[in-house]
Amino acid sequence: MSFTRPRGTRDFTPVEAGCRRQVFEGLQSVLEASGYSEIQTPLFEETGLFLAKSGVEIADSLYAFQDKGGRDICLRPEGTASVARFYSQQLRTLPKPLRLFYHGAMFRYERPQKNRYREFYQTGVELLGAACPLADAEVVLLASRCMKSFGLNYSLRLNHLGVLRRMLVELGVSDDECGIIISLMDRGLMEEVGEKVGDERFMELAGLSGGFDVFADAQRIVDGLEKTRFELDNFKELCILLNDTVDYTVDFGAARGLDYYTGMVFDVKVDGLGAQDQIAGGGRYDNLISSFGGPDTPAVGFAFGFDRLLSALEQQEYEFKARSVDVVVIPLGGVSAKAIKVAEELRDNLDACIVLELIGKGVGKTLSFAADSGARYAVIIGEKELEAGEATVKDLAEEKQVSVGFGALAEYLGERL
Ligand code: HAM
Repeated sequence: MSFTRPRGTRDFTPVEAGCRRQVFEGLQSVLEASGYSEIQTPLFEETGLFLAKSGVEIADSLYAFQDKGGRDICLRPEGTASVARFYSQQLRTLPKPLRLFYHGAMFRYERPQKNRYREFYQTGVELLGAACPLADAEVVLLASRCMKSFGLNYSLRLNHLGVLRRMLVELGVSDDECGIIISLMDRGLMEEVGEKVGDERFMELAGLSGGFDVFADAQRIVDGLEKTRFELDNFKELCILLNDTVDYTVDFGAARGLDYYTGMVFDVKVDGLGAQDQIAGGGRYDNLISSFGGPDTPAVGFAFGFDRLLSALEQQEYEFKARSVDVVVIPLGGVSAKAIKVAEELRDNLDACIVLELIGKGVGKTLSFAADSGARYAVIIGEKELEAGEATVKDLAEEKQVSVGFGALAEYLGERL
């Protein structure tokens, strides 16, 4: 019998899994240093959770099924709806603002291509309970800080869906239609947007992009639309907060596929990743938690496409630190029990990777295996060593060897590793 791996999924070799672990730990330390704490939510949820507010793109790509109890279940396509559910049910009494992050597999039934998978990973951040532009700025800066911590070159694009939605409503478009129009914008179907909205001012705004200066044009365009102007001022305030700290582009045409966004939205892109170059995306979603029965709670967040982050790092030739073997313990002849004991004692006493030779390959082969795996020392224990009460310690880099009493091994190696 042979089986193929499902389309859009991947296996990771020990080296790849090691790199992924290292990148996650890097993100974790940046996020924790800004006061964010990790949470975990289930890999599968009630399907309705993602039908309610996430939008058609997500709904169309769900891995949904009925479980044996006849419940409608789906593999999670993203983390924000789960966090909003978790918060509404259990976390609402915690002091606010609440800073959370999560990391794990997400599932979307999409057409697989480079950097687009059916099982992919996200590292997501959610800041709950703060409505101010300062909270938006914190989240945008955190995404940027993560990128900088890996030395990655990137570009940051900002928009504000509150401005677009408010303008559509002030131009007489219904709430439902707003969602459709924003989704058309997200897919770049601007002609259809034009036909649906039928207002030049909206199209002019949606075509506007550039630095902070674009606010002057935007203000002119929305002149007379008071509520839109209010949202625009909110967006401008965010950009003023960011001006001295991070480079960004404002793009009033940049919508996002998820329906729950209500305010600022942003994405982070990296050159050279091909069509799927968006490494992170996020925004403000002030109504999601209350729509799940929770208290009115403003919220903002983003998620890294973790796999794309890895691709970008590989492409920008990031140096991953491989964890290698430090010491190989080689038993020769009937000394296995002693060798196990020595290896255990070394593990107890050293912050190092100690590997025991298991299959009697012989000293020559084991030493070349040890050297290939990056080990610095081999500890050879034969019957002669057992009798003498000392092991032969071979320095594989310098090709020297000495005898060291079993009781002094950890100290000897500890001083040299
Ligand atoms: P999203 O834009 O749908 O947002 O996904 C965030 C990131 O996940 C994308 O920028 C991309 O890097 C990565 N991604 C999405 N689909 C795939 C795929 N099929 N294969 C590989 N990577 C993928 C969200 O999911 C929101 N929950 C983000 C958020 C958090 N908003 C507020 N808080």
